[in-house]
Order: sequence, then C-alpha cells, then structure tokens
Amino acid sequence: MYIRKQFRRERLRIPMDKVVLKLALHRKSIRRYKSDKIDLSKILYAIKTALQAPSGANQQPWRFIIVEDPEVKAEIRKICEDLEKKFYSRVKKELKEWLLSRGFTWKKPFLTEAPYLIAVFAELGKPYAVQSTWLAIGYLLLALEEAGLASLTYTPPSSPELLEILRVPEGFQLQTIIPVGIAGEDKRKEPRKKLHEVTFYNRWGTTLMQD
Ligand SMILES: Cc1cc2nc3c(=O)[nH]c(=O)nc-3n(C[C@H](O)[C@H](O)[C@H](O)COP(=O)(O)O)c2cc1C
Repeated sequence: MYIRKQFRRERLRIPMDKVVLKLALHRKSIRRYKSDKIDLSKILYAIKTALQAPSGANQQPWRFIIVEDPEVKAEIRKICEDLEKKFYSRVKKELKEWLLSRGFTWKKPFLTEAPYLIAVFAELGKPYAVQSTWLAIGYLLLALEEAGLASLTYTPPSSPELLEILRVPEGFQLQTIIPVGIAGEDKRKEPRKKLHEVTFYNRWGTTLMQD
C-alpha cells in the first residue's frame, strides 16, 4: 500500500462533532418496534427533507405512501411473509444458516408493529429513476434519525399484489418499505469498513491514512 508522504507527516483530522456524521453514526437498522404512536408531522418532515435530494434532470421520480391503516399493514405483512417463506424454503442451507445467524427469518413483524410504514416508489421512465430515488431514501433515513425515529430499509420481494393493494399506477416500481417508529430492540452495531480501505487519492490504490 502506497501512502503519500504529505499525509504521513501531518495526520488529517476528521471533524467528528458535525451533525450529519453524528446522525449517520447513530442511525441503525431496527427490526422490532414498540406500538407507541408517533407524530405524523415528523414523518412529513423527513419526506420533505427527502424531496431536496438531487435527481436525474431534476425529474424527482420518487413517490411515497405513508401507511398507517392496520388492515393495510396486515395485508402487506401477509404478502411479504408468504413470499419470504418461499424464498427461505428455496435458499441453500449455508445461506439460510448465515441469514439465521444474523437474525433474519421469513418473519417480518416490523411491518405490523411499527405505527407507520413508508413505501417508496421510483417512476421507471425517468432518467436515473432508481439512483435518484435511493438518494432520496438516504436523506429520508437521516431525517428520521434526526426526528428521533427508528427505521429499517426493508426491500420486499417483487410482488404485483403489493402494488395492487396500494393502488400503485403503472410505471412505478416499489423500492423499499420503511417501518418507522420507536425502537423495540437494542441497536446492533454493524461494522463499517475503514475510510482508508475504500478511499483512494488521485488513483486507485493510493491511500490517505486517516484511521
Ligand atoms: C438496499 C438495502 C436493502 C436492504 N434490505 C433489507 C431487508 O430486506 N431486510 C432487512 O432486514 N434489512 C435490509 N437492509 C438493512 C441492512 O441489512 C443494514 O443497513 C446493514 O446490515 C447495516 O446495518 P445498519 O443499517 O444497522 O447500519 C437493507 C439495506 C439496504 C441499503
């Protein structure tokens, strides 16, 4: 590994007290929720933030459905769990064991536990629709964290039934269903790669030693 002399001499310092980094460090995926109600205006605040994301040709291809109705949430859960059951019955033993070791099963209780779900869609005909929508999802997650709410980026198996019960028009693809609420489990710290492992300077392989 080649390290530039100038960075070896003076250690670069990352400001660790900045708001966005603090939020990003604090946010963790939460898969169990308390039944506590939360303020709808907090969800709208987070979506308003997501709407400020950049998008291909400023086409803003994202759409959001906030689901609070318990019957709709139960239908969503049923469809997702049926599909997940099929998926889990097909996967190889090693993968299933790995998934289980990480606490993943076909069960998706968060889809009915969380007081709100936010389903996010991309308008497929628009330029960079999927990339742009995921940028907005990133903004959304940090804004939810700032509002003190727990969330999870759940990516359900593709299902026409889900689109049907949510009355989604042609041309929109479901990207994720995000449960939002108060955490009902402890945060699990998933490791992150180090800055120097994934960041190069000028050319691939030249590392900035920072951590
Ligand atoms: C594109 C994407 C898809 C994901 N899909 C799922 C999913 O279907 N189910 C799930 O439990 N977590 C899902 N996650 C959450 C990741 O497992 C989680 O972000 C990762 O393990 C890091 O943990 P952290 O979010 O707590 O930092 C997804 C995350 C992303 C970004």
